[in-house]
Amino acid sequence: MTGAIRIGVAGLGTVGGGLCRLIEENGALLAERCGRSLLVSAVSARDRRKDRGLDLEAARWFEDPVAMASDSELDIVVELIGGAEGVARDTVEAALEAGKHVVTANKALLAHHGTQLARLAEDRGVALAYEAAVAGGIPAIKTLREGLAGNRIQRIQGILNGTCNYILSTMRDTGREFGEVLVEAQKLGYAEADPSFDVDGVDAAHKLAIITALAFGCEIDFEAIHVEGIRRISAIDIAYAEELGFRIKLLGIAQLRNGAIEQRVHPCMVPRDVPIAGVEGVFNAVHAEADFVGRIMIEGPGAGERPTASAVAADLLDLARGISVPTFGLKADGLARLPTLSMAEHRGAYYLRLLVVDRPGVIASVAAALRDEDISVEAMVQRGRAPGEGVPVVIVTHETGEAQMKRAIARIEALESCLEAPRMIRIEQP
Ligand SMILES: NC(=O)c1ccc[n+]([C@@H]2O[C@H](COP(=O)([O-])OP(=O)(O)OC[C@H]3O[C@@H](n4cnc5c(N)ncnc54)[C@H](OP(=O)(O)O)[C@@H]3O)[C@@H](O)[C@H]2O)c1
Repeated sequence: MTGAIRIGVAGLGTVGGGLCRLIEENGALLAERCGRSLLVSAVSARDRRKDRGLDLEAARWFEDPVAMASDSELDIVVELIGGAEGVARDTVEAALEAGKHVVTANKALLAHHGTQLARLAEDRGVALAYEAAVAGGIPAIKTLREGLAGNRIQRIQGILNGTCNYILSTMRDTGREFGEVLVEAQKLGYAEADPSFDVDGVDAAHKLAIITALAFGCEIDFEAIHVEGIRRISAIDIAYAEELGFRIKLLGIAQLRNGAIEQRVHPCMVPRDVPIAGVEGVFNAVHAEADFVGRIMIEGPGAGERPTASAVAADLLDLARGISVPTFGLKADGLARLPTLSMAEHRGAYYLRLLVVDRPGVIASVAAALRDEDISVEAMVQRGRAPGEGVPVVIVTHETGEAQMKRAIARIEALESCLEAPRMIRIEQP
């Protein structure tokens, strides 16, 4: 065994603390597997006095992670601070500039600056590894970049945010509304005090941006992603979904159509019997369709101290073994700039829920609005009778265009008998 690999860990919170514990507990096993021991030889966080329950005696403390990043004694810098800008970005850039391998779990940073950082890593001849940035403990990056390297990938779908999946699963199990379940998720530590990054779909979009680049060999284009969160999903939609044979999931989806790429994050109705519909609670999953392997799905814990530390450790082991692959599977200059498809160009089936006055002729005028946009209906459900009052009507369409659907919704909403804005959920076929 040659000398130890000296690691500097910037950030000692959930993931950084977990990584230090993993190296403490499994250090001997890691050394056996890569032929060198991994030594946490420097650390940085905000508060030096905080009791983290870690033995950091042997590590040098840096007040400034950016200064640590260029320390000549380090072989690898692990950035576990977070955030697309500021100290996390400065730390990663400083480490790469100094010719050090970087391991990070920072999806926001990669989604916004991934292509540029990949170029910098390549220029300096070092690796930028980020297994923990997507789907926590699931080896999603390795699967797409290495495991499926012999395939052309046609489509990826992911449950990429455990908070949203927990909320949607719990709403279905309990019949409760979004707001109530969100508060419970916050108490259980599954949702942040400010949950907007998760429930508005931004976190899932960060991860989608990264796996899109990997799957399709293109530059990261976070701005091109259509993003909708789960705040508007209500218990009644979840109940109708069940009745119609669907589950509602927040999916991140990327696919190629005629040489252009469509990237979107939004709530989807998926048939109840497809594998991704069975991914429940805080779990994440990545599903890929590729020309030779066919369809595969990997599922597992998408966050948390131990699963995320497991992913960071996998990157460290690769580097210790001398394994390094281009950041997004191709040389940075070889990443394509693909044209993007806007959401208006999307095609699919739709679920629509209306609240309309229960009186003769109303359904005919709704049907006319759909007919005028050339949208054909697969199913229509009206529950209960309340003459002269509001009743819910649910419509499932056949495949149609998003732009047509939006125009039809505007026509329906303008009807005097339509009592609230129609709710629309896209149906995602496997
Ligand atoms: N938590 C997860 O399950 C998970 C899963 C996948 C990916 N990630 C990603 O992993 C990264 C870390 O997340 P986390 O949950 O571990 O965050 P966290 O618990 O909030 O920890 C952040 C750490 O960064 C330190 N820090 C903040 N500002 C700093 C500064 N200016 N200088 C030095 N240190 C600073 C903090 O120091 P103090 O402790 O002294 O405050 C803390 O130790 C993020 O990019 C996140 O998106 C997290």
